[in-house]
Amino acid sequence: MGNSLFIWLFSLMLGAISTMTKTTPQINTTSGKLLGRSVETPFGPVDQYLGIPYAKAPIGSLRFQPPQPLDKEEAEIRRDATKFGPVCFQPPHLKEMISPLLRTNDNGQRASSEDCLTLNIYIPSGRQLDTLPVMVWLPGEGFDYADTTQFDGTFLATIGQVIVVTVNYRVSVFGFLSTLTPEAPGNIGFLDQRLALQWIQQNIGQFNTSLRERYVDFCGSMYIKAQTEQLARILIKNGMSKVFLYEFAHRPSFSFHPDFIQAAHGDDVLFTFGLVHQLSQVPTEEVKLSRRIIAAFSNFAKSGNPNSVDIEEALQWLEFSNNQREVLEFSARMENNSIRPSKNDRDVAFWYNVVPSLSGHEQTVSSPDKAARDSPKMDCRLALIRSSFSGQEVQYIILGLVAFTIVLLLILLIMSRYICLSKRRIHFTKF
Ligand SMILES: *[C@@H]1O[C@H](CO)[C@@H](O)[C@H](O)[C@H]1NC(C)=O
Ligand SMILES: *[C@@H]1O[C@H](CO)[C@@H](O)[C@H](O)[C@H]1NC(C)=O
Ligand SMILES: *[C@@H]1O[C@H](CO)[C@@H](O)[C@H](O)[C@H]1NC(C)=O
Repeated sequence: MGNSLFIWLFSLMLGAISTMTKTTPQINTTSGKLLGRSVETPFGPVDQYLGIPYAKAPIGSLRFQPPQPLDKEEAEIRRDATKFGPVCFQPPHLKEMISPLLRTNDNGQRASSEDCLTLNIYIPSGRQLDTLPVMVWLPGEGFDYADTTQFDGTFLATIGQVIVVTVNYRVSVFGFLSTLTPEAPGNIGFLDQRLALQWIQQNIGQFNTSLRERYVDFCGSMYIKAQTEQLARILIKNGMSKVFLYEFAHRPSFSFHPDFIQAAHGDDVLFTFGLVHQLSQVPTEEVKLSRRIIAAFSNFAKSGNPNSVDIEEALQWLEFSNNQREVLEFSARMENNSIRPSKNDRDVAFWYNVVPSLSGHEQTVSSPDKAARDSPKMDCRLALIRSSFSGQEVQYIILGLVAFTIVLLLILLIMSRYICLSKRRIHFTKF
């Protein structure tokens, strides 16, 4: 009963989030003098600076070109930073594929524009700001979609006591078209991301925080577990960062997928961002799960160690290393810490040994290693997200492939009969 009262109070308080806003202190940045808005939440006040441009509008002669930093004069402009900027042009995301928690209040009627290179900053206000780390979220899926308005950083910022930055970058054709010529060299969406990171490095100090030289990178290689594990191995092999690996193994109570699907692609983000708190009724166990993940991630950002002393159950999340390949399973039934050894050796062997030897492309296997070596050395610590695909989904894919093969064989059969017939016809005409 206590629980339901808690949830009820909780939802009442949540109603207040977007209404009680006031303006924030003005912040001088290279993108102008920003006036954001201060928002009250059940977890404490948060200052939001939204829609901050970090590059020139990539239009006209800058279309398909690497992003250009803003002119110096822009720093003098007073800028209203209380609203999101437009979303970068992208194909419409299938409604059925998006969790209702990612739909924003405006029902998907967001303005799209090519002039979309903006970022958003969420800062818990009124605390010891000088110790807060910065967590950067580059949303997106397959470089086709990326929409920061779906990821309200307010909850993560307050609950985790971290600064959250979300970044829009060009996607789809505008971000990744390549003509293999200077007119459209391709992959400029990545350059947008890099310029945004540089902007953060340059300006975040203005927000009364000293940027500790550490980024947390959620590596969301969510499609293919084997690749995530491979990335983990490359990182530890090159000594680039500490790696902690997890699998999100909880089917959300609000899941809109068929029953047989457990944790689905992207469900973990709803918990990592605390977006579950937007629901009017959140089961207590899911509130706890979300807090546990946020605590682990923000601890990791603060100290490089996700294990904390200040949440109810201390985590026992072991570092992923060569001789100890442990994976933490996050689930609501996590009474005790569920750490299991990595099960991915076989998958990895298939993708990284068998497939390349079949296609004769061994070279591509070593390229991630090379990229890792060649990339600039940052004090980057890395947490890896493994969002699970249920076995049934894989079964569907296999069934689809089998059906496709059968149809193909039938077509071949019909075609071969037709060819035989036409040969016979030719015979007849000869007589
Ligand atoms: C911001 O710039 C204005 C002048 O352009 C200056 O008066 C003010 O002190 C600056 N604020 C901070 C926090 O540096
Ligand atoms: C930064 O700190 C100074 C001095 O403590 C304060 O006057 C100012 O309002 C703070 N700015 C922000 C954005 O919190
Ligand atoms: C969790 O651990 C405690 C003590 O270590 C044990 O009594 C309990 O049965 C465990 N629970 C589960 C679900 O394994």
